[in-house]
Order: sequence, then C-alpha cells, then structure tokens
Amino acid sequence: MEATADSLPWAAQCAGAALFAAALCVTALGVVLVFLRRWPWCSCHVCRAYLTGSWARDFTNLGDWYAHLLRESPTGTIHVHVLGCTVTANPANVEYMLRTNFDNFPKGKAFAALLGDLLGGGIFNVDGHAWRHQRKMASLELGSVAVRSYAFGIVAQEVESRLVPVLAAAADAGAVVDLQDVFRRFAFDTICKISFGLDPGCLEREMPVSRLADAFDVATRLCAMRGAAASPLVWRAKRLLNVGSERELREAIALVDELAAAVIRERRKLGVAGSHDLLSRFMASAGAGDGDDKYLRDIVVSFLLAGRDTVSSALTTLFMLLSKNPGVAAAMRAEAGDGESAAPLTYEHLKGLHYTHAVLYENMRLFPPVQFDSKFCAGPDVLPDGTYVAGGTRVTSGLVIAKIT
Ligand code: HEM
Repeated sequence: MEATADSLPWAAQCAGAALFAAALCVTALGVVLVFLRRWPWCSCHVCRAYLTGSWARDFTNLGDWYAHLLRESPTGTIHVHVLGCTVTANPANVEYMLRTNFDNFPKGKAFAALLGDLLGGGIFNVDGHAWRHQRKMASLELGSVAVRSYAFGIVAQEVESRLVPVLAAAADAGAVVDLQDVFRRFAFDTICKISFGLDPGCLEREMPVSRLADAFDVATRLCAMRGAAASPLVWRAKRLLNVGSERELREAIALVDELAAAVIRERRKLGVAGSHDLLSRFMASAGAGDGDDKYLRDIVVSFLLAGRDTVSSALTTLFMLLSKNPGVAAAMRAEAGDGESAAPLTYEHLKGLHYTHAVLYENMRLFPPVQFDSKFCAGPDVLPDGTYVAGGTRVTSGLVIAKIT
C-alpha cells in the first residue's frame, strides 16, 4: 500500500515539516544574501571591525579608517566583504575604472535606487547614453570661456558685496562667526546664480532662511541615511508604507520639486537667449529655449548637489588650515598683490596665481570634499594590481587616495 502523508507516523510528519521549513529558511537566507551581496559570517579583521563598530574607537570617520587600512595594504586595495565592497587607493586601479575600462564600472542600479527620488535622471545618477549627453553638455559649458568669465564675475561680486562685508562686520564687532555656515550660504548663492541666473540671497546680512536650501539639506541627509541602512529592505519598506524618515524624505523632495519648478518657470519668464547660466544653456540646447520639465528639474537638483557642499567644505577647511599657517596666508596675499593694484581682478589674473592653486589642491588633498566615489563592476574583472572583482561588486575609489600619499 502506498504511504500518504496522512498515513505516516506523527513523528515522521513533524520531521518532514521541519526539514521543509529548514530548506525554505536556507533558500530564503541565500536569496537575501545574494540580494544584499553580504557575507555576514566573514570574520576577517576589517569585517569584524566594521560589524562591531570597533573602528570608531580610533577614527572619527569612515574615510580616516579606510585611509588607514589602505595605507597598510601592500596593493593599496582592501575588501569589506560584509558590504560586498572593494576599496582602492591604487592610482592604476582608479585610472582603469575611470578611463581604460570605464564602461565596465557604471554607477549601477543600487545607487540609482538610493538617489533616484532626489536626483532623478540627473548626471550624477545615470549611466550610458543619458550620462554621455549630459556630460558632453556640462563639459562644453563649464569649459567655455564665456561661462567661466560669467562664473568669475558672479563669485567676485558675491565676495565683494556679501562675503567681505559679513566678515568685516563680525570682525569689527568682535563677534564669533560660524564660518562653515557662512561658506554654505556663499556657495548656495553662487551656485544658484551660476546655474540658474537667480539669486537666493542667503548671505545677506540678516542671514535669511532659504526654503530651497533647507529642503535640499533634509533630502540629501535622508538619502545618505538610506545608504547607511543595514539593508535596503528597511528603507524600501518604510518608503512603501510612507512612514518615518521616508515620509520626511518624500515631503522634502516635494518641496525641492516645487521650488525647482518655480526656478524653471522664472528662468523661462526671463528668457534664455543671451543668458550664460547653465540652466539657460541646457534649455536652449533642448530646443527653442524650452525642454522637458522633469529633465530640467533633474539638472537643477544635480548642479545644486555638485556645487554647494563641495565648495563650502573646501573653503571651510582652507580657512581652518590658513588660520594655523599664517605664513601661507601671507604668501597668498603677496602673490595676489595684496590690493596694491587699482585695476580690477580678472579671470586671467586668477589663472596666474600658481602658489594659491597649490594651496587649494593641498587643502583638498588633506580634506577631500568628496571622499568616496563608488561604482559597480558590471562584469567580472581584474584590476591592474591583480585584484579580482566579481560582477556586481561595489568598487569604491577616489579622493581617499590623497590621504595616504
Ligand atoms: C571644490 C569643489 C568641487 C569638488 C571637490 C568636486 C568634486 C567632484 C568629483 C569627485 C566628481 C566625480 C564624481 C563621479 O565621477 O562620480 C565631480 C564630478 C562633477 N562635478 Fe564636481 N566638484 C566640485 C565643484 C563642482 C561645481 C561647482 C560644479 C558645477 C558648477 C561641479 C560639477 C560637476 C559635474 C557636472 C560632474 C560630472 C559628474 C559625472 O560625470 O557623473 N562640480 N566633482
């Protein structure tokens, strides 16, 4: 007689059910691990330090810890297995990823998902044709003499009419100034003027609150939190349910969208012909001074991201270093002529300030405003230092290099 499930003894049925459940769990765990590309059982010293957070005992931020590990590594490359991530500070590897085999190292879908709600299809969040098109436009415009002179004029005006008066007033009053806040306002004003031809006036004497700057702050902070979450499933579930930080992010992005739409409307009203700001140039290139609103919105947001915190971070660390190295500040003043010449400063004059350039580069070498630049390896590859990277591995490179040389 054939045995049916009903006719099996009770213990055998339990054992079968338990085996089935165990198989299901193992499969589910496997799927989750493959999905997350994580190996939580890795017990190498890097993964252990990462998982237990013990690295934070000796280092104030992840960049400094990575720089320390990279300095110790003979190849300048390390692996954080639990993150499925390879970090390299080997210049040959970086050149390979960014130039020689560029197409095999796209930004990838994982980042596009993290940042997609905020950046949409903007240059920092796309690969392939969309990236090439925007990159070509951006290089063309940012490299043109007309746009550079326009940007120079805007920066010079913001320095003379706002930055210097704000600092001079504080100095006269003997007041303490939060330089980082001042430089963030300075950078926001200049990037808005250069990018859209509009002035948010954040560095006016009364230090007004900008709704766009604030919404943008919240949105970028919460997107970064998505990246730091233990698993993407967490933020995805919160997003689906529209709760907690994801709800806050949605509201901040809605405000960014609303204000970006106002910027685009205003730009259209003012007209794009003869305007040198980047948005006008993109609008003009999109045809008849117009263009798809979503595409233009994504450009607005990308340039805000590109030019705000990068510039303000570089300026903040520069002034911190200058305050500790007054000799360097004096040499920069001497090179600039220390206000001796009555002629107004020109863009050409700036290009001749070699010592000042060297100081700016050294500042960004010591304190890179962008510490990491991550890509995803599309297909299995071998980096020039012999490191094998499986398809789908996150490969992080970039300015941490500076910290180890
Ligand atoms: C101190 C200031 C700045 C620093 C340190 C900085 C740093 C960087 C870095 C590291 C990248 C490479 C990103 C990648 O490959 O994924 C990049 C790309 C880019 N940056 Fe900047 N940046 C600065 C200022 C600016 C400003 C002011 C603008 C615009 C007005 C700008 C526009 C761009 C653009 C369009 C790209 C190309 C993105 C791509 O090709 O995917 N940056 N920047």
